[in-house]
Amino acid sequence: MTPRRAPHYRAHEFAAISTPRLLLRAMTSGDVDDVHAYMSNPDVCRFLLHEPRSRETVALKIEEWSTMGRLAVPGDDLQLAMEFTTDDPEAGRVIGHTYFKLTSVDDVTAEIGWTLHPGFEGKGYATEAAAAMLAYAFTTLGLNRVYAELDPRNIASVALCGRLGMREEAHFREHMWLKGEWSDTGIHAILRSEWSARQSG
Ligand SMILES: CC(C)(COP(=O)(O)OP(=O)(O)OC[C@H]1O[C@@H](n2cnc3c(N)ncnc32)[C@H](O)[C@@H]1OP(=O)(O)O)[C@@H](O)C(=O)NCCC(=O)NCCS
Repeated sequence: MTPRRAPHYRAHEFAAISTPRLLLRAMTSGDVDDVHAYMSNPDVCRFLLHEPRSRETVALKIEEWSTMGRLAVPGDDLQLAMEFTTDDPEAGRVIGHTYFKLTSVDDVTAEIGWTLHPGFEGKGYATEAAAAMLAYAFTTLGLNRVYAELDPRNIASVALCGRLGMREEAHFREHMWLKGEWSDTGIHAILRSEWSARQSG
């Protein structure tokens, strides 16, 4: 029988990725205050699966996230600090983070997500980080599909998917009971073939 596993996936150890204005890297204990500054904000967490986080919870999460790096088996994930690197007094600050999870090795698929400090919205930083992660997914990792799951009311996130060339693939109605109400879930995705066409177009 033909093996179902796609032949080209190789386990990978994430290092870091530089973009024009950001460094995407593993979190460290020194990032707790920067990350707490936005993860404690109810507006930021409005469409996230969790409530605003205390400094103690952020510190525990970062302790866990700082050891992530290997993308080998389904479920392996990264929570990467978006460190601001421009020539600015804020250089070195973590202004958000990018989530990336290998969801299937057989189908070479990953999930992507993003969170920014509200003070840094509207300048393209999330697009810059996510575009770099898509390039990493399709070139370095050789994946075939990357998707995002979001609440369709989260128009900033839906718009970000659009800027990245991700198509809406599904809209599940009352998919989750979350924060005291039924929430819909939207799936947006991009294939390697679609991503490649955008690079050459
Ligand atoms: C979702 C989220 C990351 C989007 O942030 P964002 O700032 O809108 O996205 P970007 O950083 O890519 O910035 C895009 C905006 O900057 C503008 N922009 C300026 N320079 C730009 C550039 N070089 N490249 C792209 N966009 C640029 C765009 O026009 C756009 O502005 P608009 O919203 O007025 O159209 C942010 O709203 C957030 O963190 N929300 C809370 C957490 C959350 O809900 N996460 C998603 C869960 S699914």
